[in-house]
Amino acid sequence: MTPDDQKRISGAAAADLVEAGMVVGLGTGSTAVWFVRALAARGLDIRGVPTSENTANLARELGIPLVGLDDVKTIDLTVDGADEIGPGLSLIKGAGAALLREKLVWEASHRCVVIADAGKQVKKLGQAFALPIEVVRFGHPHTGRRLADIAAEFDLPPPRLRTADRGVVVTDGGNVIYDLGSGGIDDPAALGAALKSITGVVDHGLFLDLADEALIGTDEGVVKLVP
Ligand code: 5RP
Repeated sequence: MTPDDQKRISGAAAADLVEAGMVVGLGTGSTAVWFVRALAARGLDIRGVPTSENTANLARELGIPLVGLDDVKTIDLTVDGADEIGPGLSLIKGAGAALLREKLVWEASHRCVVIADAGKQVKKLGQAFALPIEVVRFGHPHTGRRLADIAAEFDLPPPRLRTADRGVVVTDGGNVIYDLGSGGIDDPAALGAALKSITGVVDHGLFLDLADEALIGTDEGVVKLVP
């Protein structure tokens, strides 16, 4: 099975958790696309809360009615992908630059389910993937230097401003992303708290104690993990 097949079965399994009448958080990324497609195919009477403009566009195309986070008191279930899944279902998210909206939607949700291919599991967060940090655009080079100081305190290399073909990547919220590569984060909670203490940092991609379960696509089928 290819990683994409694993993502597909994981997304489909998560779509089966949705019941009519639910408000559902719709994640971002290639695995979340499989979930949104499988959910739309079920034709249930639900409302979706998208975590990015990309997901909102896809859901609209597929006929899923959408509401904003402002319009709902609580979200019954959010389903979203991850870049790394570590011990206790600690996560790194944000490769798709949607981490801020994703975290806001996750925190408003009654139940959060991670969907992923088997390659996303790691023994230690940061092992395979850089940690994205969302930073306000105003004065971001200064914030970037403060991030480098924090990184040094944690024996990590300086973070790098995320760019793509068209220049600096700007998030749906109008912010920029710094990626903190590491090779392994010893104390994710302490690093997260230190990053949040910097004024220009809006949030980071460490999702700790937020996931209720994970549905991992494997060659043997979908495996459910709990923290
Ligand atoms: C976007 C995310 C995604 O959930 C994460 O990048 C996983 O993406 P994919 O399913 O394409 O591997 O955090 O901000």
